[in-house]
Amino acid sequence: MSDLKIHNISKEFNGTAVLDKINLEINQGEFFSIVGPSGCGKTTLLRIIAGLEFPTDGRIFIKGIDSTSMPPQKRNVGIVFQNYALFPNMNVMENVAYGLKVKKESRETILKKTSSVLEKVLLSHKAGEKVSSLSGGEQQRVSLARVIVTEPDLILFDEPLSNLDYSLRQETRNELKRLQRESGITSVYVTHDQSEALALSDRIAVLNQGKIQQQGKPEEIYFNPANSFVSKFISHSNLFDSVLSKKLFNIEINNNQKLVILQEEIKPVKSTELKQGVITEILFTGYAYEFTISVDGNIIKSMQPLNTVLENFSKGNEVGLSLLTDKIRVVE
Ligand SMILES: Nc1ncnc2c1ncn2[C@@H]1O[C@H](COP(=O)(O)OP(=O)(O)OP(=O)(O)O)[C@@H](O)[C@H]1O
Ligand SMILES: [Mg+2]
Repeated sequence: MSDLKIHNISKEFNGTAVLDKINLEINQGEFFSIVGPSGCGKTTLLRIIAGLEFPTDGRIFIKGIDSTSMPPQKRNVGIVFQNYALFPNMNVMENVAYGLKVKKESRETILKKTSSVLEKVLLSHKAGEKVSSLSGGEQQRVSLARVIVTEPDLILFDEPLSNLDYSLRQETRNELKRLQRESGITSVYVTHDQSEALALSDRIAVLNQGKIQQQGKPEEIYFNPANSFVSKFISHSNLFDSVLSKKLFNIEINNNQKLVILQEEIKPVKSTELKQGVITEILFTGYAYEFTISVDGNIIKSMQPLNTVLENFSKGNEVGLSLLTDKIRVVE
């Protein structure tokens, strides 16, 4: 039995459809991400799971129990928000203890559970400090501790890392993954950052305009996108129509298909006989070069790790294109 079953959920706001027949089943202990662009309905779906919003149609089952019209406090579900949502006038310990106090646990139990969770999130030494004196990463760990301590059936995350700067985001992401594994609590994680979803998740669902485009393991989605939206959004792939596919790579596809080439699967080559395009931009990103190559006005992106770029390229160079894969993937 799945821990969370989202069955045919649709949501309209003032007659406008925001979610359209969403079906998902999330297993016990699973880290499941819902990824999609701004406005695609991610927060709305989380709010429906939490009971903060009601669906126009469909049902939500938590641990097999129909929870569709159950109020939020009756569902054993914790939420971690982007903006931490901590109590600013309470210290770290009091913030974490709050949920247990509401549940009327004994003083002794509260102290024991709170101390143990603070240890897990590496914040024991900050227990007596005001949360406002903590860094963003620490505050987010407090909000995670506050949820874990209540031992929920399900944790919902709504873009919890997006207020953090790049390096803290990486660090907190890894911590979060470790804590989720250790606690084994089924987690649904919402983000618009595909790399975050790929790194964290057991499985991912890609959402666009209120519809699930594809769901599967990170590698499945990355290497075998179901349609052009998924390939653009998840792997930033290049898509070629049948004319370009034939002209550049001698690969025949149907008129209604697109050839999918990942940015890391194509590279510029200096070739005197084969001049297919012009380099219009070269970006150095630290671990790779990102080439932008124009072919008759079509933009092609190539990302090459430093150790694979053996030739010296400059903007304006006429280059050939070399495919680094013999796998042919097409989307309709
Ligand atoms: N209470 C509401 N009333 C009317 N429209 C709403 C309401 N809540 C959300 N919407 C609309 O529903 C759509 C989806 O919003 P939602 O917040 O779920 O998107 P999101 O995927 O979380 O976006 P973001 O990545 O920007 O957080 C948007 O067009 C939004 O304007
Ligand atoms: Mg949102």
